[in-house]
Amino acid sequence: MFWLVKHGVKASGMPAFGGSHEDRALWNIAAFVKNMPQMSEEQYATLGSAGDH
Ligand code: HEM
Repeated sequence: MFWLVKHGVKASGMPAFGGSHEDRALWNIAAFVKNMPQMSEEQYATLGSAGDH
Protein backbone atom coordinates (compact mmCIF):
# COMPACT_ATOMS: atom_id res chain seq x y z
CA MET A 1 0.00 0.00 0.00
CA PHE A 2 2.86 2.37 0.85
CA TRP A 3 4.55 1.68 -2.49
CA LEU A 4 1.31 2.11 -4.47
CA VAL A 5 0.54 5.46 -2.90
CA LYS A 6 4.13 6.66 -3.27
CA HIS A 7 4.56 5.61 -6.91
CA GLY A 8 1.00 5.46 -8.25
CA VAL A 9 -0.33 2.77 -10.58
CA LYS A 10 1.20 2.94 -14.05
CA ALA A 11 -1.17 3.49 -16.99
CA SER A 12 -4.24 3.62 -14.75
CA GLY A 13 -4.63 7.29 -13.79
CA MET A 14 -3.67 6.62 -10.15
CA PRO A 15 -1.27 9.45 -9.32
CA ALA A 16 2.02 9.12 -7.41
CA PHE A 17 2.00 11.01 -4.12
CA GLY A 18 5.71 10.57 -3.42
CA GLY A 19 6.62 13.90 -4.98
CA SER A 20 4.25 15.89 -2.81
CA HIS A 21 4.22 13.97 0.49
CA GLU A 22 6.85 12.84 2.99
CA ASP A 23 7.24 9.10 3.60
CA ARG A 24 5.83 9.56 7.10
CA ALA A 25 2.55 10.88 5.66
CA LEU A 26 2.44 8.05 3.11
CA TRP A 27 2.87 5.45 5.87
CA ASN A 28 0.01 7.10 7.75
CA ILE A 29 -2.18 6.84 4.65
CA ALA A 30 -1.23 3.17 4.19
CA ALA A 31 -2.01 2.42 7.84
CA PHE A 32 -5.31 4.28 7.58
CA VAL A 33 -6.42 2.37 4.47
CA LYS A 34 -5.38 -0.95 6.02
CA ASN A 35 -7.44 -0.25 9.14
CA MET A 36 -10.54 1.05 7.37
CA PRO A 37 -12.41 -2.31 7.21
CA GLN A 38 -12.34 -2.71 11.03
CA MET A 39 -12.93 0.96 11.81
CA SER A 40 -16.07 2.12 13.61
CA GLU A 41 -17.84 5.32 12.65
CA GLU A 42 -16.63 6.91 15.91
CA GLN A 43 -13.00 5.97 15.28
CA TYR A 44 -13.21 7.32 11.74
CA ALA A 45 -14.72 10.58 12.96
CA THR A 46 -11.99 11.23 15.54
CA LEU A 47 -9.10 10.67 13.09
CA GLY A 48 -9.68 13.86 11.13
CA SER A 49 -9.18 15.98 14.23
CA ALA A 50 -5.96 14.28 15.38
CA GLY A 51 -3.81 16.68 13.36
CA ASP A 52 -0.83 14.31 13.34
CA HIS A 53 0.47 14.17 9.78
C1 HEM B 1 -4.33 8.44 -0.75
C2 HEM B 1 -5.16 8.23 -1.75
C3 HEM B 1 -5.19 6.93 -2.52
C4 HEM B 1 -4.99 5.65 -2.11
C5 HEM B 1 -4.68 5.14 -0.71
C6 HEM B 1 -5.16 4.80 -3.27
C7 HEM B 1 -5.01 3.40 -3.27
C8 HEM B 1 -5.14 2.62 -4.39
C9 HEM B 1 -4.99 1.18 -4.41
C10 HEM B 1 -4.69 0.32 -3.20
C11 HEM B 1 -5.17 0.78 -5.68
C12 HEM B 1 -5.15 -0.67 -6.20
C13 HEM B 1 -3.86 -1.01 -6.89
C14 HEM B 1 -3.87 -2.46 -7.36
O1 HEM B 1 -3.96 -3.36 -6.53
O2 HEM B 1 -3.79 -2.68 -8.55
C15 HEM B 1 -5.43 1.93 -6.49
C16 HEM B 1 -5.67 1.94 -7.84
C17 HEM B 1 -6.08 3.02 -8.56
N1 HEM B 1 -6.21 4.30 -8.11
FE1 HEM B 1 -5.78 4.95 -6.25
N2 HEM B 1 -5.45 5.58 -4.36
C18 HEM B 1 -5.48 6.90 -3.94
C19 HEM B 1 -5.73 8.00 -4.72
C20 HEM B 1 -6.12 7.98 -6.02
C21 HEM B 1 -6.50 9.14 -6.80
C22 HEM B 1 -6.50 10.58 -6.27
C23 HEM B 1 -6.85 8.70 -8.02
C24 HEM B 1 -7.34 9.41 -9.24
C25 HEM B 1 -7.42 10.71 -9.34
C26 HEM B 1 -6.67 7.26 -8.03
C27 HEM B 1 -6.92 6.44 -9.10
C28 HEM B 1 -6.67 5.09 -9.14
C29 HEM B 1 -6.83 4.27 -10.31
C30 HEM B 1 -7.37 4.74 -11.66
C31 HEM B 1 -6.46 2.97 -9.95
C32 HEM B 1 -6.41 1.75 -10.86
C33 HEM B 1 -7.66 0.95 -10.78
C34 HEM B 1 -7.47 -0.30 -11.61
O3 HEM B 1 -7.46 -0.19 -12.82
O4 HEM B 1 -7.33 -1.36 -11.02
N3 HEM B 1 -6.23 6.86 -6.80
N4 HEM B 1 -5.41 3.06 -5.68
